[in-house]
Amino acid sequence: MEKQIFRNFTKKLAAKLLPARDPDGHKGDFGRVSITGGSVGFTGAPVLAAYGAARSGSGLVFLGVPEPIYPIVAGHCLEVMPSPLPAARGKISKDAFFPILERLNGCDAGLLGPGLGRSQDLSKLMSKILEETETPLVIDADGLYAIKDRRELLQKRAERGLLTILTPHEGEFRYLSGDLAPGREAAALDFAKEYGCILVLKGPETVTALPDGSCYVNTTGNNGMAKGGSGDVLGGMILGLLGQLVASKRSAEADTDKAQFSKAGISEAGGITALAVYLHGLAGDIACKELGEYGMLPSDLAARIPAAILEVQ
Ligand code: APR
Ligand code: MG
Repeated sequence: MEKQIFRNFTKKLAAKLLPARDPDGHKGDFGRVSITGGSVGFTGAPVLAAYGAARSGSGLVFLGVPEPIYPIVAGHCLEVMPSPLPAARGKISKDAFFPILERLNGCDAGLLGPGLGRSQDLSKLMSKILEETETPLVIDADGLYAIKDRRELLQKRAERGLLTILTPHEGEFRYLSGDLAPGREAAALDFAKEYGCILVLKGPETVTALPDGSCYVNTTGNNGMAKGGSGDVLGGMILGLLGQLVASKRSAEADTDKAQFSKAGISEAGGITALAVYLHGLAGDIACKELGEYGMLPSDLAARIPAAILEVQ
């Protein structure tokens, strides 16, 4: 396929990529999505991700967090459905494998990683999940750390036609691949090609790279977003829009399994990912106009996702 670099992402293109909403649709038609993350000390990240998804149009958002933080997380969830997962030392434990897998398998897309924490057991758990589920996955933050020594799992998913989207910032990209030297676009494209995944290399000009050699370079956003939590909102937005895309395929072709969708739909999934990145930056720009780059918070950004969507719609 011919390599295409999109550097001029317009509102018109964003409008075209927005998943259509059936006037008679019910919540199942707009995607069921699942987020797995959180740990003691990181209670906000999974909630910000969940609201990133909910504010992007998801029909149902499930949130699995380790049992010790469940009451705190649940206190911040109205439209999102939290559930407690087995825990050890304040983090999700290996006994959470079956509940996580079961939830993911019942969803159109899943996000692994926000506020997850790091441990040997979590690395093993995340690897098993990547191997076992066919559900399209977004992997962010500590989810990336968990798979850094198991990158062959990404190739195996790609060979099976399964969709995986990784969303590292530059530091995370460095420990995943070790090499930013070819430049941000080239490095992201090399990784996407080698591992058969969509690679979102975050930063002031976020690059969304596809395995076919296409990439989008983002133009929205500002330094008011350089605050802990902005990336979590983005992970949720990608998840929410992806869930809607997968659900629309599911209702169009009742028999299409998730694996087949992933194989056929990687360029559509790349477009939806770049759309999420664009809208995330636009929501940040709207928040910045109102509140300024010093005081705006990632939760302000999440609250302005609807305004960003209205601007392009
Ligand atoms: N201009 C435009 N966009 C920006 C800018 C900027 N100057 N600075 C940051 N952003 C955007 C990035 O493009 C990205 O989408 O804000 C988001 C920041 O995401 P992350 O780097 O993941 O930051 P953060 O939300 O703090 O991550 C929280 O995740 O990386 C892990 O463990 C780490 O605790 C951290 C957690
Ligand atoms: Mg982050």
